[in-house]
Amino acid sequence: MASSDLTHEVWSIDDGSFPADASLPERARFLLRYAILAPSSHNSQPWEFVVDGGQIEVHAVEDRWLDVADHDRRELYVSLGCAVENLCIAAERFDLDFDVAYHQDTAPVVVTLQPDSEPSSDRPPALFDAITERVTNHHLFRDAPLGDPVRDELRNCVLEDDVTLVMVDEPEPKSSVAELQAEADRLQMDNSQYRKELGYWIGIGALGDSWLKARIGQAVVSHLDIGDSEAKKNSKLIQSAPAVGLLVTDSDDPSARIRAGQVFERVALAAASNGVAVHPMSQILERPEMRAELTSLLNRHDASPQHLFRLGYPQSEQDHTPRWPLETFLAERP
Ligand SMILES: Cc1cc2nc3c(=O)[nH]c(=O)nc-3n(C[C@H](O)[C@H](O)[C@H](O)COP(=O)(O)O)c2cc1C
Repeated sequence: MASSDLTHEVWSIDDGSFPADASLPERARFLLRYAILAPSSHNSQPWEFVVDGGQIEVHAVEDRWLDVADHDRRELYVSLGCAVENLCIAAERFDLDFDVAYHQDTAPVVVTLQPDSEPSSDRPPALFDAITERVTNHHLFRDAPLGDPVRDELRNCVLEDDVTLVMVDEPEPKSSVAELQAEADRLQMDNSQYRKELGYWIGIGALGDSWLKARIGQAVVSHLDIGDSEAKKNSKLIQSAPAVGLLVTDSDDPSARIRAGQVFERVALAAASNGVAVHPMSQILERPEMRAELTSLLNRHDASPQHLFRLGYPQSEQDHTPRWPLETFLAERP
């Protein structure tokens, strides 16, 4: 996959051009244009799709798996879940009912479009329009609490029995999370392999930087000792956010992680449609020894933590990051 193929053009989709009368695979491929706008760790876009009639197999691609940062593949499956959710929301928008099946084999998720029945789901409205608006905002958030209606809307995004959204907004636990974040940043940045992997994704421009900025960013991350400055910056980002969200699941297998990703994407889209910014912060969960610390701090001893993110009103806007074009992700059955 060439870095030069990364493009922002994918963000402009004319929903009026949905091929309503075309074959089911053609309609499925249109829906996938929304799936690839999903967030993923380091914007690695670790998905591949096999379209067979009305069936869309969603595969994880090992070549784009972050094997240092994400050694247990949690972020890989959470990212897949985000893409699956965009696909489902788009299907619903274009009046296609669907079924989502989770498997333990090579295609961990299969979405089957069912054109002969009416879509019926409990998803909050307005998520579809937010797919092309959503961005991850890495800036400081304003000192303004999330109102109750927004919080309720975010909570209503959890439709799965085995996924729970924990919201942390009291100063004391938030400070403790910020301290853990600082520690995790120092440990991760102390690992040259972690910095090299992060540097690679920055260097190819996946995080949206211009060619020159991407190369400088890669050199800085790969060669300079920035653990302390990252720790200070990120703990301040958490302290300044009115809320931190943590998604936990009852079990810890690929399908639970995918479902956590689906919930996260719904939360991120509902947030975007309310002017609320979202920023995942993965370093604590990337350190096995710190995951338990986080759950015990939040009194969720038996739950599996899957995804941690800041929520708040942004001080400044953030641009979209690029994606590879859809064709790159369409595959034949392996
Ligand atoms: C599973 C997962 C983990 C992520 N972890 C981080 C993180 O630790 N720090 C961060 O700044 N962004 C994180 N992100 C956000 C990605 O960097 C972002 O989604 C990607 O660059 C694409 O940009 P976009 O979300 O603006 O479309 C994460 C996203 C996902 C889905």
